[in-house]
Amino acid sequence: MKVFNAARLKSGSREEMRKHLFLVLNSALLWWWVSIPIPGACSQNQTDRLALASFKNEINKDPFGVLSSWNDSTHHCEWQGVLCSKRHPGRVTSLFLRSQGLGGFLSPHIGNLSFLRVMVLQNNSFYGEIPQQIGNLFRLRHLILSNNSFGGPIPSNLSRCSNLETLNLIDNQLVEGIHSDLGSLPRLKALGLTENNLLGSIPPSIGNLSLLEQLSLSQNGLHGEIPKELSRLNRLLLLQLSFNNLTGEIPVGIFNISSIIFFQVGWNQLQGSFPPNIGTTLPSLYSIVANHNSFTGTIPSSLANATDLWELVLESNSFHGPIPKNWGRLKGLRVLALGHNQLQDDLSFISSLANCSNLEILNVDSNLIHGSLPTSIFNLTSIKKISMEANSIQGTIPSALGNLFNLSALNLAHNSLTGPIPDSIGALYNLHPLALAGNKFAGEIPFAIGNMTLLNELYLQSSNFQGYIPQSLSNCTQLLELDLSNNNLIGSVLTPKF
Ligand SMILES: *[C@@H]1O[C@H](CO)[C@@H](O)[C@H](O)[C@H]1NC(C)=O
Ligand SMILES: *[C@@H]1O[C@H](CO)[C@@H](O)[C@H](O)[C@H]1NC(C)=O
Ligand SMILES: *[C@@H]1O[C@H](CO)[C@@H](O)[C@H](O)[C@H]1NC(C)=O
Ligand SMILES: *[C@@H]1O[C@H](CO)[C@@H](O)[C@H](O)[C@H]1NC(C)=O
Ligand SMILES: *[C@@H]1O[C@H](CO)[C@@H](O)[C@H](O)[C@H]1NC(C)=O
Ligand SMILES: *[C@@H]1O[C@H](CO)[C@@H](O)[C@H](O)[C@H]1NC(C)=O
Ligand SMILES: *[C@@H]1O[C@H](CO)[C@@H](O)[C@H](O)[C@H]1NC(C)=O
Ligand SMILES: *[C@@H]1O[C@H](CO)[C@@H](O)[C@H](O)[C@H]1NC(C)=O
Ligand SMILES: *[C@@H]1O[C@H](CO)[C@@H](O)[C@H](O)[C@H]1NC(C)=O
Ligand SMILES: *[C@@H]1O[C@H](CO)[C@@H](O)[C@H](O)[C@H]1NC(C)=O
Ligand SMILES: *[C@@H]1O[C@H](CO)[C@@H](O)[C@H](O)[C@H]1NC(C)=O
Ligand SMILES: *[C@@H]1O[C@H](CO)[C@@H](O)[C@H](O)[C@H]1NC(C)=O
Repeated sequence: MKVFNAARLKSGSREEMRKHLFLVLNSALLWWWVSIPIPGACSQNQTDRLALASFKNEINKDPFGVLSSWNDSTHHCEWQGVLCSKRHPGRVTSLFLRSQGLGGFLSPHIGNLSFLRVMVLQNNSFYGEIPQQIGNLFRLRHLILSNNSFGGPIPSNLSRCSNLETLNLIDNQLVEGIHSDLGSLPRLKALGLTENNLLGSIPPSIGNLSLLEQLSLSQNGLHGEIPKELSRLNRLLLLQLSFNNLTGEIPVGIFNISSIIFFQVGWNQLQGSFPPNIGTTLPSLYSIVANHNSFTGTIPSSLANATDLWELVLESNSFHGPIPKNWGRLKGLRVLALGHNQLQDDLSFISSLANCSNLEILNVDSNLIHGSLPTSIFNLTSIKKISMEANSIQGTIPSALGNLFNLSALNLAHNSLTGPIPDSIGALYNLHPLALAGNKFAGEIPFAIGNMTLLNELYLQSSNFQGYIPQSLSNCTQLLELDLSNNNLIGSVLTPKF
């Protein structure tokens, strides 16, 4: 599910434009919609026409000629991307110019479009500062300037747009901080500032945005603690704070916001542990991304109550203890990524994944996992990637491995696996890469390995293999990396590549 993303505008009839505007604001921006301005009877209004002319004047790149319709022979309400009010003839209510390749400054005269309610300039090449005059647009509800190259600070006068419901400035080059006045936009439902160069801390006043549903601040240089005031955002659906330099613990009150669906705080320096009842206080969780932090404690088994869970990404923290063994109700679970922690487990959690028929990624690399591969793992036929590198897994690989026909990556390197590699591995036609290095296998590399024609990386070094290198390897024409060193192998690889 993509948030703050939208369908593409095709040029064409105004009807199509209205339809697309609706799609963009309704479906792609996910949770809210806006009433669509009614087709307008148009009479002249010089203020708006002049402001639009100034807007056009600052544009120096218009590869698709979208602004060629903005000419003297047509009324400005007929210009492409412009919608006018019915009640106030000639007054512009929407400016919708998404993905048009437009480049240039955003004219300060835009601030004269005082009836403007919607401005969508997403995915163009606007640069320069967002003009302070935007603060004069007190009717503005949806401002979507994402995917441009706007620089400079977030204009402080934006806080005067008191009807703003959507402020989406994602993927620009905005600098300086998030000023606390943004917390005084009483109708704001979505604040998107991800992928900028914002510094400073998250202002506690954001917690005053009582209607806020989406808060997206990832990929900036924000530091300091997550303000406890955010706990008051009791309508929050989406919290994205990943890729910043946030420190401290997550305020406990945030774990009480039962509406949260997306909880993404990865790649920070956050500490503390997850409350044991997280799965009951946040029952709607769909995505938990908390990787690359310093979280401690155990993985709460109450997550089994968050039955919509789709991804659980907790890699590279200091979680310890066993992996919960009650995943059975999470039928939609797709990603279980727990690598690089201190989890102690004997792989018995795997059997409880049997009902997770959508599971695609299982990663428990670099933990304290022992025991042998349970046969139940070979029933997970939806699985695409299994990674269990650098643990203490023992025993053999059963021939049931061949059941995992969707497998595209298998990494069991640096464990204590023994016995031969089963011939059934040849059934894994999609496999690329395969890493089994650093084990204690016996016997030959199976001939069937030549069946894996997509194989691009093959790591079998230091694993005690014997006998001839199978000639079938020459069928693996996609191989870019091959390491067979430190075994007892005879022969050579018959392909011009090596
Ligand atoms: C916009 O309004 C300002 C006054 O607020 C005026 O000076 C300016 O000329 C106007 N621009 C256009 C293009 O009408
Ligand atoms: C002016 O715009 C109309 C469409 O609104 C278009 O048909 C016409 O070709 C344009 N004129 C020029 C000179 O670009
Ligand atoms: C962005 O706009 C360009 C046109 O300039 C278009 O080709 C591209 O598909 C758009 N990207 C998205 C994700 O809509
Ligand atoms: C906007 O940029 C983001 C990240 O750079 C990208 O994922 C997304 O597809 C882009 N969207 C549009 C509409 O261009
Ligand atoms: C910004 O807002 C202040 C009032 O807060 C106002 O005096 C000033 O004219 C505005 N600036 C612009 C460029 O609109
Ligand atoms: C939040 O709003 C209250 C009034 O509702 C105000 O007193 C307080 O200063 C605001 N908090 C912040 C941090 O701006
Ligand atoms: C976070 O801080 C480290 C130094 O402590 C710095 O190297 C890194 O660039 C910072 N990251 C961001 C996203 O600002
Ligand atoms: C969370 O909610 C529970 C029950 O509604 C309440 O007892 C508790 O104090 C809340 N915790 C925080 C930190 O808000
Ligand atoms: C799930 O929630 C119920 C209450 O709704 C609770 O009794 C049960 O212990 C929870 N399960 C787990 C694993 O926490
Ligand atoms: C694997 O699935 C089959 C049928 O789908 C079932 O009979 C068998 O018990 C399962 N094996 C394990 C180990 O879960
Ligand atoms: C390897 O592929 C051949 C067909 O190319 C097939 O007959 C054979 O069963 C496959 N081997 C394995 C182990 O799946
Ligand atoms: C290579 O593949 C072809 C057909 O895909 C098969 O007939 C042949 O036996 C394979 N050769 C080796 C050495 O595996």
